[in-house]
Amino acid sequence: MHNAECSITTRSPEETAAVAESLGRQLQGGEVLALIGDLGAGKTCFVQGLAVGLEIPDEAYVRSPTFSLIEEYDGRLPVYHLDLYRLSEEDELEAIGWRDCLDGESVVAVEWADQLRGYLPNRYIEIRLSIRSPEERELKFVAYGDPPVWWEGWRTTLLRKD
Ligand SMILES: Nc1ncnc2c1ncn2[C@@H]1O[C@H](COP(=O)(O)OP(=O)(O)OP(=O)(O)O)[C@@H](O)[C@H]1O
Ligand SMILES: [Mg+2]
Repeated sequence: MHNAECSITTRSPEETAAVAESLGRQLQGGEVLALIGDLGAGKTCFVQGLAVGLEIPDEAYVRSPTFSLIEEYDGRLPVYHLDLYRLSEEDELEAIGWRDCLDGESVVAVEWADQLRGYLPNRYIEIRLSIRSPEERELKFVAYGDPPVWWEGWRTTLLRKD
């Protein structure tokens, strides 16, 4: 496996959230996480785990911003959570302030990031979730552009767990 990639199979929503939490703890701000996967694959579950790793208080319960498309949270870093399932035209990205999210300080987690096509920055982490059985999900991570400084260390720990 190329060192910009890694994957793991989880066997419960809790396990998916735990992997996401471990990733969330590494984040330093400016990372863009592009979540891709079918309905019910676990994208929101992943972002909920991420929220724990980013120390977003429980009161700010994280759900898919399906209608608003975007939600902002304050954890130990500023966080934008987008859900582009209902994005109908690219102009809407402008309206929700997509460019402003890429401020280099905030963490940006995007569900249905396949909708972004040409709008992703050069550096981002793709997280592809595939349904393997009712309780099993394969999570595949790919770092595009220069991987973040924490990437190699995190990837190594993750691979040891699988
Ligand atoms: N290993 C697993 N990891 C994550 N979720 C799992 C797993 N096994 C079962 N599930 C279930 O799959 C569902 C995942 O839902 P979730 O809302 O996170 O998906 P989603 O990808 O955000 O879907 P949507 O596109 O509708 O927003 C939950 O009902 C969860 O309990
Ligand atoms: Mg969702």
